[in-house]
Amino acid sequence: MVSKREKLYQAVERLKGLRCPVCGGDVERAGEAFACARGHSVNVHRKGCLNVLSVPIESCYDRGLFAARRQVFAAGCYAPVVEAVEALLPEGKHCLLDAGCGDGWYLNALLTRHPDWCGAGVDISRDAIIAATDQPCAAVWCTADLRRLPFRDGCFTAVLDVLTPASYAEFARVLTDGGLLVKVYPGREYLRELRAARGLPPYEEGQVDAYLRQKTTVMGEKRVTAAWPVTPELWRSFVWMTPLNQDLSAEEKEALAVKPADTVTIDLHVAACRWRA
Ligand SMILES: C[S@@+](CC[C@H](N)C(=O)[O-])C[C@H]1O[C@@H](n2cnc3c(N)ncnc32)[C@H](O)[C@@H]1O
Ligand SMILES: [Zn+2]
Repeated sequence: MVSKREKLYQAVERLKGLRCPVCGGDVERAGEAFACARGHSVNVHRKGCLNVLSVPIESCYDRGLFAARRQVFAAGCYAPVVEAVEALLPEGKHCLLDAGCGDGWYLNALLTRHPDWCGAGVDISRDAIIAATDQPCAAVWCTADLRRLPFRDGCFTAVLDVLTPASYAEFARVLTDGGLLVKVYPGREYLRELRAARGLPPYEEGQVDAYLRQKTTVMGEKRVTAAWPVTPELWRSFVWMTPLNQDLSAEEKEALAVKPADTVTIDLHVAACRWRA
């Protein structure tokens, strides 16, 4: 069986886009690590991922949250988003960056369906990237800030940004000419039942949408909307997986978990956009 480290080396080789996080120079394999000509090195974790953050960042995106997300993904509630992304990408071979990839579920789904594509997933949460290394696909998993990506200019044909803050200029830098940003952001009804359980009003849609249209030309878009029936177990996973509840204690989350709704609504915009400089 190929080790996680070996999978990472293969993914770096296929991507041909890793650069030094300090000076931006090219990096080469140097023993078990990667290094640039000036001697800066990027170590490879035994779990098969990289870390280019100089200091670790505290995050609510921790192991508990990703364990719950795994249950929600396994239930299929986000599978239509993968189909929408695929439908919006032009035909051909892609090299994808999943920016704020979380546990890598989307990138894995896309690379598994298209074995000739390659990809990288970055997230600022170390727990997210460690969880991502459990995905079966070979990808360059890296703990990094999406505002300062350790990749060469123009090395991705598409950047995926799912429910994550964006850095439009940095995404434009790493995209090929004509490359696409695929942004997934909440519609008004997104997680309506979970918001209602907290006494919160529906999402206000306007801001992300307006900014996206100001900075980019939207080339194609889809809306993924469905009310998924949920078992009490799946409701509990939703309660634990959403950053909506990050301010609650474990006891408060459990109190929400014992009052399940019948459905959870997924309502997401998926937009494929081109940067307007
Ligand atoms: C709501 S989660 C979405 C995760 C994943 N895209 C998904 O849909 O499953 C937002 C993710 O963005 C990451 N994130 C937030 N700010 C970031 C930054 N500046 N750089 C990289 N990742 C960031 C968080 O750690 C978290 O994993
Ligand atoms: Zn360097």
